[in-house]
Formats: sequence, C-alpha cells, structure tokens
Amino acid sequence: MPSAPTTSDHPINVLLLGSGGREHALGWKLKQSPRCGKLYFAPGNGGTDALGENVDLAFDPVNTKNVDAIDYFCRHHDVSLVVIGPEDPLCGGLADRLAKPGRWVFGPTANAARLEGDKAFSKELMRAAAIPTADAKSFKNHDAALAYAESRELPVVVKAAGLCKGKGVIVTDTAEEAVAAVNEIMGDGGSGGAFGDAGGTVVIEERLEGQEVSVLALVDGTNLFVLDPAQDHKQVGEGDTGPNTGGMGAYCPTPLLSDELRTEIEREVLVRTVDALRRDGVEFKGVLYAGLMLTAGGPKVLEFNTRFGDPECQPLMVRMKGDLLEAMIATCEGTLDAVDLSWDPRVCCCVVMCSGGYPGKYEKGQAITGIDAAETDPDVTVFHAGTTVKRGELVTAGGRVLNVCALGADLKEAQAKANAACAKIAFEGAFYRKDIGSRVM
Ligand code: AMP
Ligand code: GLY
Repeated sequence: MPSAPTTSDHPINVLLLGSGGREHALGWKLKQSPRCGKLYFAPGNGGTDALGENVDLAFDPVNTKNVDAIDYFCRHHDVSLVVIGPEDPLCGGLADRLAKPGRWVFGPTANAARLEGDKAFSKELMRAAAIPTADAKSFKNHDAALAYAESRELPVVVKAAGLCKGKGVIVTDTAEEAVAAVNEIMGDGGSGGAFGDAGGTVVIEERLEGQEVSVLALVDGTNLFVLDPAQDHKQVGEGDTGPNTGGMGAYCPTPLLSDELRTEIEREVLVRTVDALRRDGVEFKGVLYAGLMLTAGGPKVLEFNTRFGDPECQPLMVRMKGDLLEAMIATCEGTLDAVDLSWDPRVCCCVVMCSGGYPGKYEKGQAITGIDAAETDPDVTVFHAGTTVKRGELVTAGGRVLNVCALGADLKEAQAKANAACAKIAFEGAFYRKDIGSRVM
C-alpha cells in the first residue's frame, strides 16, 4: 500500500476498533505520541472517551454496510490510521476492505489472520514449516473424530477449528471426556455443536504440560520486532482452577524465558511462520502472537493469534517506552527495522476485576467507585473493559470490567500494588484473582 500522504509533523487522526481493555491501553499509549491527532474509538467503552471520542460504528465484518460506514467516517474525519483490535473483523477481511491509498490499516489481511481463525490451517502450516507444536490431527468427519478420540491412550485437547472467543478448547483427561468434547463441539447425532460453524472441523491434539507464555511481535511483512514476553492467566479461579475465561490477568516481563529461549522462539516459531506464509504468497503485517507451552522438550505452540492479546497488551503498553504510533505506521510501511522501542525495566502486573458470576451469567449496570483513589498511586493505571457511562454514572457493562495495572521493582511488588489498587475499587459482585504471577514467584 502506498504511504499515507502526511508530512512527519502533520497530526494523524486515528480510529481504534474495539471495546476492551486492550483498546483502552492502545489508545492510552497512542495518545502519548506527539504525532497523535484526534483519537476515535468504535465503539470504545466507559474509559476510552476520556482519551478521545467514542463513535457508534458497528464493525460487523460480514456486513458490507458497516465497512462502508467505517470508510465514510474515515474520509470525513481525516482518519489516516485505523487500528483493528479484535480477531473477528480481521478474520472477516476488514483490513483488506478498508485498505486504500492514503490510509494505514494496522492488522493483517484475512489470509494472514487465518493463522488464528482456522486452527486446522495453522496446524498444517506448522507441520509443513517444522514449527514445534503439539502433535495433532484435524477432522471434518464426526465419526472419524470420535473413533480417533476413543483410540487415544494419552490425554488430548479437543479444539473447535474456528473462532470461539477463546471458549472452543476442551482439555481432557480420559478417552470418555475426549469423546464428550468431540460431541460438544461437533454436535450430537448430526445436530449443530455448541460453537456452530466454528466447530465444523475439530483439531484433536496431544495434551502438553508446562508453563504458558505469550510472545508477541510486530511484523511488517519482513521484519519482526519481538515484544517482551508475558504470562496470561486464563482460568477463573486462584491456583489456575475452574473454567477458562477471556483472561483474568497477566504480567510482563515473565522470567520464564531466558535470552536463549527468546531467540529460539523468534527463530523457530515467529520467523518460520512469517516465512511459511510468504512462501504461500501471504504477507503478514500486524501483531503475531504465539501462545506457547514450555514443555520438557522445549517451547511448543498452542495457538497463534493475529492481534494483541487481551490482557497481555495492557502491561505491555504500560511498560513500552517509545512511540507506538510510529511503530504501527512502520509496521504498515515495512520499515520496522528502523524502529526502536524499549521497556520500563520494572515489572507490570495487570489484574482483571470481573462481574460476579463471570464467565457464566452476570449482572450489568452496577455502579463503579474508587478508580481515582486507586490511581493516586503513580505506579497504578486502570484500563476499562466492560464499562459504560449511563446518566453520567460509570457502570459495569461486561464480564471483565476493569484492568488494574501496577508497576513494581519486581513481580511481588507489582502484584501487591495491583491487588491494593483493586481493593480500593468497588462494584456489586466484583471479584478478581489475587495470585496473578504467583506461579513464578
Ligand atoms: P488455545 O486457545 O488453543 O490457546 O487454548 C486455550 C487454552 O487451552 C491454552 O491457553 C491452554 O491452557 C490450553 N491448551 C490448549 N492446547 C493445549 C495443549 N495441547 N495441551 C495442554 N493445554 C492446552
Ligand atoms: N490473552 C489471550 C488472548 O488474547 O487470546
């Protein structure tokens, strides 16, 4: 794509698509750039409008009208950078459809986002490129999947191949559980499964043991800029118990990766993936996120995402030194080799405050208090996720409500500060994990 026609001192108006803590954190960091002009969020949340303006542009990727509305908005508000936060619009081809001369779109094309949107495809790519990952087989046929699940002697993980908001993965202990998981995803006796079309193909893979790490990189088609590694906590309960969620907290950097291991992951996972796509004629531009298990046999890929992780993005933004806006433009332009981002040497711990009942049913509309009090500590930053403003009052509007981030000299201090900040914030039913980061302490 040709460069957007801006001189380097021209302010750049940005449209950020999404409504989570990830998008609030990206906006917060973009706003620090001297080149950042007006910042628009669509739809944004109860915190993002303090940084710019929330606008109502539904961005359903399958609805052409919405794409037209976004395009129209950008033309009429002189937006030259669009940042796409979540995976669904990327997999649906929004980046392809918004791209045009004079506009940068941060986020991969649909063909590149397939790495996240189709787990059978990404397994195939990893196998062909000798990228270390769990051994797996993909099935479109229900009976064949059942027969395979029944025949496994070691524990397996059963995954819907398509996008399921992080919920289409079932970790099993026994063959009976594996069979039940196949039926849940593919549907029992011919009826549709719990995840609809996303479960039309299942991936059944060996269950790996170890600690999980998220390694994210900016990729400009050729060059990679690897960000500091983070660890996410997906399970709802302390001590990693209970059902998986969208993420209960994350900290960064994690001490789990030595410099050697980071280099190995960059070379054997990230670079190989970008190269393998390129060999198939697909250029990857945006964020490539490898979710890895550190097994006794070395790091292995559990999944790829093609966007910033949520909540990993939040501690990354708090620690990032340098200009995110310039880095995003360089990602779009293919000039990442000239970008130099660095990191606050301190550790950041991000604790997610949730609505009572999450990830199951929960109430919305509960009044939120105490954010200002929490932020009196200069090392604390609170990002909003499921919040909105109703009649002038900040209220809950989702399961994951706030992302409370704190910097500390070490992880222990960062965790203690984040937990102390959470204790100052209140809404009916609020809960959070107090052990974010404890697995490595
Ligand atoms: P995914 O969305 O594929 O990353 O899977 C969600 C979660 O399921 C991961 O964060 C892991 O905790 C778990 N998981 C996925 N694949 C495996 C595997 N092969 N072995 C063990 N746990 C897994
Ligand atoms: N933190 C996991 C994800 O963003 O998918």
